[in-house]
Amino acid sequence: MNEEYNRMIEAQDISKDAPAEEPDRQYYFMKKCRESVKKKSEELGRPLTCSLTTFGCQMNARDSEKLAGILEEIGCVRTDTEDADLVIYNTCTVRENANNKVYGRLGGLQRQKKKNPHMRIALCGCMMQEPSVVEKIRESYRFVDLIFGTHNIYKFAELLDAAWESDSMIIDLWKEGSRIVEELPSDRKYSFKSGVNIMYGCNNFCSYCIVPYVRGRERSREPGDIIREIGCLAADGVVEIMLLGQNVNSYGKTLKTPLSFAALLEKIEQIEGIERIRFMTSHPKDLSDELIGVMRRSEKICRHLHLPLQSGSSRILEKMNRRYDKAHYLELVDRLREAMPELALTTDIIVGFPGETEEDFMETMDVVRKARFDSAFTFLYSKRTGTPAAAMEEQVPQEVAKERFDRLLREVQKIASEKSAALTGRTLPVLAEQINEQDQTLLTGRLDNNSVVHFPGTADMIGKIWDIELAECRGFYYLGRRKDGLS
Ligand code: SAH
Ligand code: SF4
Ligand code: F3S
Repeated sequence: MNEEYNRMIEAQDISKDAPAEEPDRQYYFMKKCRESVKKKSEELGRPLTCSLTTFGCQMNARDSEKLAGILEEIGCVRTDTEDADLVIYNTCTVRENANNKVYGRLGGLQRQKKKNPHMRIALCGCMMQEPSVVEKIRESYRFVDLIFGTHNIYKFAELLDAAWESDSMIIDLWKEGSRIVEELPSDRKYSFKSGVNIMYGCNNFCSYCIVPYVRGRERSREPGDIIREIGCLAADGVVEIMLLGQNVNSYGKTLKTPLSFAALLEKIEQIEGIERIRFMTSHPKDLSDELIGVMRRSEKICRHLHLPLQSGSSRILEKMNRRYDKAHYLELVDRLREAMPELALTTDIIVGFPGETEEDFMETMDVVRKARFDSAFTFLYSKRTGTPAAAMEEQVPQEVAKERFDRLLREVQKIASEKSAALTGRTLPVLAEQINEQDQTLLTGRLDNNSVVHFPGTADMIGKIWDIELAECRGFYYLGRRKDGLS
């Protein structure tokens, strides 16, 4: 529990009506929820438990930390299993299989709810912003208690209070995020690193992508709020931050006093205690020379850039509404590599976009060979209802797309392993992140370029940066040796 939030929550008088202003209103409902949790625990003769599962990207993971912060403040005990009194799914809808996972797991929850009448099931996140999904849940998954979306997640305590008071399904969904509510608790997954939202939403409308429809229009946070949050994180022991936005390169354009992303980075660089700065995602169309300059001069910005390509064919890129072409992308890669020869470049690629021919696909393979990505996330195109691409003719047959996907994956993996092998023998700083899952005598950490290193160590080393010799490269990770003699 955080002392400052605790004070603000306890200061609320719940015998009166809820205050209208945020964040006070939420502190009021957190206090109400605290009372409910206490009462329910007494009735049950055991602590009230909750489980929270995140599907989707870092943005969703950060949202889940905010939900977890509220759950912690109200006194719910987190469990690893779904055998809990409150089960929350923070969903993703970027590809069809993300949705299928949620429907699959809901079946299991229904069986559990029959055994535990106290159980409440809450669904939130991107999938819930789609009216067709909510319709389906109302019809076929009537045991769900609470549905909310991406824009009103800050109201979680208020919604939970309503769900505990009611026996029918509560649905609260907003089309747009009108406001950014600051000053709410969050419970970080790691003590030493944290995601930080710098903007919400997306205005790009890539023709295949559902994100702008479920996350709303682009809104940047005020630089002062971002700097304050990072300052508090640093004071709390955080050494690495990941700045989050769907298109960080267009940060600040909508602020009352506009500020570029590069200028924001320069301010963040000044914050004492922060040792590593990462960010994602960068859109190639908005990546400026100013940003390349700031990255090159910086001592804290990691030598890693995630720069989604999506396709190497200029014709397909145009149909995707990406607003750059193959030549522009390759030229950008050249400029980046010239400025920072050590830069690790990673990407996202979609295979089988409507109308993609073998020639288009060969253009993608060509960029992969020329850009030599350190790693790439490859996706089979997934049709998202409501996006322009879903209505395009010439959808590529599944088996054709799958065959191209396999070829692409082989090429990507071959290049990635050649690139990681090149660092073998070097001694580089590694942030120790956790005890290795297979071997308790090892720690798992990350290089500045985001590659994984396993090396001998103990739990007290977690959260600090160590010089490690990359003794052996095993494809996509390294086995490291400590420079202080222990190995
Ligand atoms: N804002 C980021 C991407 C967010 S979604 C950007 O512009 O790069 C993460 C990745 O999912 C995308 O980069 C894309 O490669 C993939 N993706 C998005 N929609 C998809 C779809 N309909 N089918 C397959 N992959 C998709
Ligand atoms: Fe989707 Fe494009 Fe926005 Fe990324 S930039 S979230 S791919 S619409
Ligand atoms: Fe998925 Fe939403 Fe992220 S759709 S990828 S969780 S923004």
